[in-house]
This record gives sequence, structure tokens and C-alpha cells, in this order.
Amino acid sequence: MAVYGVLRGRSYARALNDAGHCRFPQERQALASELIQGALRWQHRHAELMRHLMERPRPASRLGALLSVGLFQLRRTRVPAHAAVNSCVAAAKELLSPAQARLVNAVLRRYLRESSRLESAADRRPQGRFSHPGWMIRSFRAAWPGHWESILRAGNRKPPLWLRVHQGRISREAYRASMLNPQAWNCSLPQDLPNGLQIDPPKPVSRLPGFSAGMVSVQDAGAQLAVPLLGIQPRMRVLDACAAPGGKTAQLLETCPGMKQLVALDCDAGRLDRLGENLDRLGLKANIRLGDALQPRDWWDGQPFDRILIDAPCSATGVIRRHPDIKHLRRAADIARFARLQSRLLQSLWPLLTTGGRLLYSVCSVLPEETAQLIDGFLRENRGQAREVRRLDGSSRGWALPLSDHGCQILPGRRCADGHFNALLEKTAGTS
Ligand SMILES: C[S@@+](CC[C@H](N)C(=O)[O-])C[C@H]1O[C@@H](n2cnc3c(N)ncnc32)[C@H](O)[C@@H]1O
Repeated sequence: MAVYGVLRGRSYARALNDAGHCRFPQERQALASELIQGALRWQHRHAELMRHLMERPRPASRLGALLSVGLFQLRRTRVPAHAAVNSCVAAAKELLSPAQARLVNAVLRRYLRESSRLESAADRRPQGRFSHPGWMIRSFRAAWPGHWESILRAGNRKPPLWLRVHQGRISREAYRASMLNPQAWNCSLPQDLPNGLQIDPPKPVSRLPGFSAGMVSVQDAGAQLAVPLLGIQPRMRVLDACAAPGGKTAQLLETCPGMKQLVALDCDAGRLDRLGENLDRLGLKANIRLGDALQPRDWWDGQPFDRILIDAPCSATGVIRRHPDIKHLRRAADIARFARLQSRLLQSLWPLLTTGGRLLYSVCSVLPEETAQLIDGFLRENRGQAREVRRLDGSSRGWALPLSDHGCQILPGRRCADGHFNALLEKTAGTS
């Protein structure tokens, strides 16, 4: 009932936990995750189908969640139809009631009989056609008049697995040649992503050769493009201000082992533990600090930083394909709340940057309130002290859309990457 948990507003991790997911054997865990993610990804479409299939549809109920799993199996998997229906009916008997089990049986069989009429009917309303909440569809459309449909379609696609090799240990060519059996792993190496490998179809990380030995990390291409923009040189002092679980911290350390200091800060102790484990696996070391980036006085030693990375908390509207629960958990009002926090993070950390130093603001959002508009507001407030470095790094050029106002935006699905926004700011004069 993990799907139901998310539909009731529980986080994905908590919903899995409540459903006892981790107690399943590994093979069943993988299958269950596939079904849960699929049901959540297509829930808005399924809700529309249910409207045409039932007199009193309640897509966010336990029954609705189970029907969504059933519809996902019928519409988008190779599970034989009779097996999908039977397993959903059996689950309804166990978890709901005999009457609801009969309803599940009737609804799924009716879908099978009338699927083409029902699918056409579901296409008529945007939430059904794009399988996203209405407010998101409207926001994407307003922000990206020429791209909103492709953003929505990308949000429904199952993503590939992207890896970053630990360049101090192995090259990606050597990793592919020596670790990945070409019969089992379909792998490509984009020319303009120096340490990145794309595995499609994806496979569980537990099966990745060399993962526990620290040869590779899982990191989407969109995320891999941020760190090189900072142009880190040996002997620099660097702050990674929202660091956990450490994907970019590790990338910073791998690409520039000669830094004088890397402070990896986060306010979430549990996530910082994961950062520590990730760095240990990769044989890397940072100065890990538990603290609030909004309160530098509590953790800063007063020495200015040459580079600051703010990989800020955000709506995550660029990574919906990886986290379909976002469609159900985010609300329109969250966007302004994130933008306020992001703006406060920028204002709090800017004084810690040395004159001539650079700050990279990075989010996995596609909404202007959290991206270009936010940077515009910051530059206005800090006129004469901050400028934007507009030059796109060579590798970003092939992935991102340069924006006419500020920053560069990788749109979700472009070259199979997640959506990501980056803006690089330089301090031109000291803060008074
Ligand atoms: C997008 S995630 C960072 C991902 C990370 N940079 C990586 O590459 O793996 C945002 C992080 O910001 C942290 N965060 C949120 N508010 C913060 C604050 N006020 N101070 C420090 N960290 C904060 C969250 O705990 C979360 O780990």
C-alpha cells in the first residue's frame, strides 16, 4: 500500500517503509518498486480512466491505489492480463474486502474490453493526457511556451542510469572495457561529459561492478554538469553548502584533489551520515559539518571561501521522471516557499565568498521562481557587488539552453538528462 501512502501525502521513503518493502526478498523489492513507481507516474492518467470506468471513482483511496497498480500492469508492462487482474483481485481480498475485490475484477476487465475508447476519453483532459497535476501543467506551460509538452512527456519516461567514474581510479573507457560485459550492459559515453556513462536500460546499483570498491557513483548527467562550472583550482577553499548525500561533494574531490579545504555542510544529520558513507566508499575526505547554512556564525571559521556551491533544496520539478511521487507531494504554494529559502541561502552565504570568488547556484527545478527570476532578484539587490559569469562551460553547451535572462537550463529529457539549472556568480566587490 505504498502507493496509497504517497497519495495520502507520505514521503516515498516513509510509504515504502510503512508497507514493509525492505522485508521483501531483493527480487521482489525490485518488482514492487517498479509497480509502485509506475502507478505513481501514471496516477493522473489512471484517475482519468477511473472517472470513465466507475460511478464513484476515488483515485486517492486504497481501492484507487490498487486499481492504479492494476492499470499500470495492464497498460505498460508485459505481465499477462489475466495474471495482472488475478494478482490485484487477490491483493484486494487480502487488504480490502470481498466486495472491493469484485469491483477490482469488474473495473480491470472492463478496461481490457474498452481500452481504446477509454484511452481516447482520457486524452481529452490535460491531466489525463499528460499525467501530471493541473497546477504543474499550467506552470510548465507558462514558463516554457515552446517546451512544456516535452517537459511533461519527459516527466513520464523511465530514466536511464547515469554513472560518474572516479577519475582518480579508472577512466570511463577502462571501466567499460574491463567491468561491463557488453552483452549485459548497454552503455554509451557522451563525448562532452568527461566522466559520465549512460546505462540504458538501467539496472540495480547493487549489480554494478566496482561500485562498492568506489570506482563509480550514480549521478545523472544533468547533475554532473554543475561542478565543472566552478573552475576549481588547487589550493582553493571551497564550501559545498547543501552537500548531502554528497554526489557533488565527491565529484568536487575527484576532479580537484588539490583543494586546500572542502567544507561539506548540511543541516540534516541522517543525510550527512550518507554523505560520510559515500565518501568512505570512494576513499575521499572532506571537512564534514552539521549546520544551518542560514546561520554561518555557528559553523564558519571566518576564512573566506574562493568557491561556494549552493545545491539548494527545490521543487525538484526537473527530476520528476526519477521521483514520480513529486507529482503527488508538491503543491503550487511550495514554489514560493522554496524560492524564499533559496533567496535566504544566497544572501546568507554571499558574505562568506572572497572578492573575485565565484558562487554556483544550482537547482533541479525548471520553474523561473526558483531559477532565472531568483538570480535576477539577487543581482538587483547586490548591484555593484555581484555579476553573473555568462560563459557556458564547454561541456554544458551541448546540454543546456542558454537563457536570455540568467543562468542556463537543462530541460528534463534533453539528451536523456534530468532537468537542472545553474547560474555562476562572481563577487566583484566586498560586502560591506
Ligand atoms: C538538493 S539536496 C543536495 C544534494 C547534494 N548536493 C548532492 O549532490 O548529493 C539539498 C540539501 O540541502 C540541505 N539543506 C536544506 N536547507 C539547508 C540549510 N538551511 N542548511 C544546510 N543544508 C540545508 C538538505 O538537507 C539537502 O541535503
